[in-house]
Amino acid sequence: MTQVLGLDIGGSGIKGAIVDVMAGTLVTPRHRIPTPTPATPEAVVETAAIVVRHFGWQGLIGCGFPAVIKGGIVHTAANISPRWVGANGQHMLEQATGSPVLLLNDADVAGIAEMRLGAGRGRDGLVLMLTVGTGIGTALFLDGKLVPNTELGHIEIRGRDAERRASDGARERKGWSYAEWAPRFDEYLQRISDLLWPDLIIIGGGASRDFEKFARFLTVRVEVEPAQLRNEAGIIGAALAAHEYTPVPA
Ligand code: BGC
Repeated sequence: MTQVLGLDIGGSGIKGAIVDVMAGTLVTPRHRIPTPTPATPEAVVETAAIVVRHFGWQGLIGCGFPAVIKGGIVHTAANISPRWVGANGQHMLEQATGSPVLLLNDADVAGIAEMRLGAGRGRDGLVLMLTVGTGIGTALFLDGKLVPNTELGHIEIRGRDAERRASDGARERKGWSYAEWAPRFDEYLQRISDLLWPDLIIIGGGASRDFEKFARFLTVRVEVEPAQLRNEAGIIGAALAAHEYTPVPA
């Protein structure tokens, strides 16, 4: 059994579990620690290292992070401390844990897990995975291959950043019922469909849990399915990606 530790750094929690990357399943229960506030790079990395130590883990780590990540470097900060921009998050995590780390965008890794093991399994064509939580994360796949770092949660709708009005975070902030929020989300799905013409949209993140509560309000004509791996997608996808994309040192 090949094992990798999967980490999912989010706005409200830092979660981890050991993953069997051959089976794509969790070997341990998830361990979650609330994200420190303020979520500065140092505080978040230290908390992530505590999650890693909880498992007594030494070995490869895959980590999802809510920002554009290129070569381990954090490039954006929509829902995190602006101090992250320019930080080499991957290197910081390696220093703090003493283990090799692959750092990738959180939606991208959740999408990798859903494409491999969940709602996107066996689906060719253009598939868009949305993680609808504090923000809206997007992962775009063409014939199963990821186009990394798409940030389509930030398209502009009615003069505003789409995730500010259509995310689950917006629904909670405004105290909207699903019936009140769904038309805004539906408008977002329609707009994104007009731009990309995907064959399938997978809804993940916090909102996937309550998919049945709002699915009937959606009018968009593209096929929309709830994610299947729920809150494990980020952890499993991060572990799978680290296992597949990290070169073994010679
Ligand atoms: C960020 C994305 C992230 C998404 C979900 C957005 O605000 O810009 O990088 O994937 O939130 O966490």
